[in-house]
Amino acid sequence: MSDVLPTAFASTTASALRERLKIPLIAAPMFKVSSPALVTAVCRAGAIGAFPSINARTPGLFDEWMRELGEALSVPTDDGSLPAPLAVNLLTHDSNPRFEPDFEIVCKWRAPIVITSVGRPEVVMDAVHDYGGLVFADVVSLHHARRAAACGVDGMVLLCAGAGGQTGRLNPMAFVEAVRQFYDGILIVAGGITRGHQLRAVENMGADLAYCGTRFIVTPESNAPADHKAAIIGAEIDDVWDSDAMSGIPASMLRSSLERLGLTPETRWLQEKREKYDWGSVKETPGVFSLGHGAGDIVKEESAASIIARMEEEYRRSATE
Ligand SMILES: Cc1cc2nc3c(=O)[nH]c(=O)nc-3n(C[C@H](O)[C@H](O)[C@H](O)COP(=O)(O)O)c2cc1C
Repeated sequence: MSDVLPTAFASTTASALRERLKIPLIAAPMFKVSSPALVTAVCRAGAIGAFPSINARTPGLFDEWMRELGEALSVPTDDGSLPAPLAVNLLTHDSNPRFEPDFEIVCKWRAPIVITSVGRPEVVMDAVHDYGGLVFADVVSLHHARRAAACGVDGMVLLCAGAGGQTGRLNPMAFVEAVRQFYDGILIVAGGITRGHQLRAVENMGADLAYCGTRFIVTPESNAPADHKAAIIGAEIDDVWDSDAMSGIPASMLRSSLERLGLTPETRWLQEKREKYDWGSVKETPGVFSLGHGAGDIVKEESAASIIARMEEEYRRSATE
């Protein structure tokens, strides 16, 4: 059986992982957006490509995607190096009926990195460690970060203010500093990142990798519809609002999308409105778009390889002598 383990790790340290990458970057998993083509392009360009398992409509299709990705990522790149490893995002919440079948497939193909979202990293830890993979958990608060550290996760994604999708609200500098007081695993910072010099800033802050979603929506490889891409190109930072009225967890949305859902500046914070909105169907509503603060810096569609090459150049130029 050809599997994706050839791209996994001999060691679980941040520096071992970093050696596999051209730049310290994960192209973040995005519902309905991340495609096998995007993951392949990102990994072959030298950054970690990630996707939610549920983007494949059925577990059978997810299995097929893993087989194809395993093949595509076993072929060395033009400079003879192995592509960067991929990451699969699993919704570990117990309300997700896809968790069991998708996790079985993750283990079958030995996905090098598993990113758990919405809590419960503990349900995947033992099995992923047994096959040599890494577990990263996303967290929005110190409380979550302490819980994830207690579970022994290999890395944490700090969802900071301005991240696309479900977002945190903490300042990245303060959040990294606070988590570093008790955690020396891999730290990944998310929220508004679009440039290579920002990757350097993330490292200087004491974290290891940047997590970048919105920038990769506006690529030919993403599965985002044209109106989502156009909305991002047209948006400035002030057009990105967050609201917790839909799921209880704040999400970054296009201001006009919230208005379309009937939410106003006054009601977008009101948790009691929650019953009115089913987050699952909100995400599927036509014309309702999620995006992060970084949308303000996105002015055109660019291929994933070109974004990564540009970031690599910006990252290199920002090195201090
Ligand atoms: C349209 C969209 C869909 C997303 N879907 C998911 C998802 O399915 N799972 C997940 O863990 N995060 C999801 N996210 C969050 C991203 O993984 C990541 O945290 C975020 O995009 C980083 O912030 P940035 O967009 O400012 O770069 C989504 C983000 C966006 C914009």
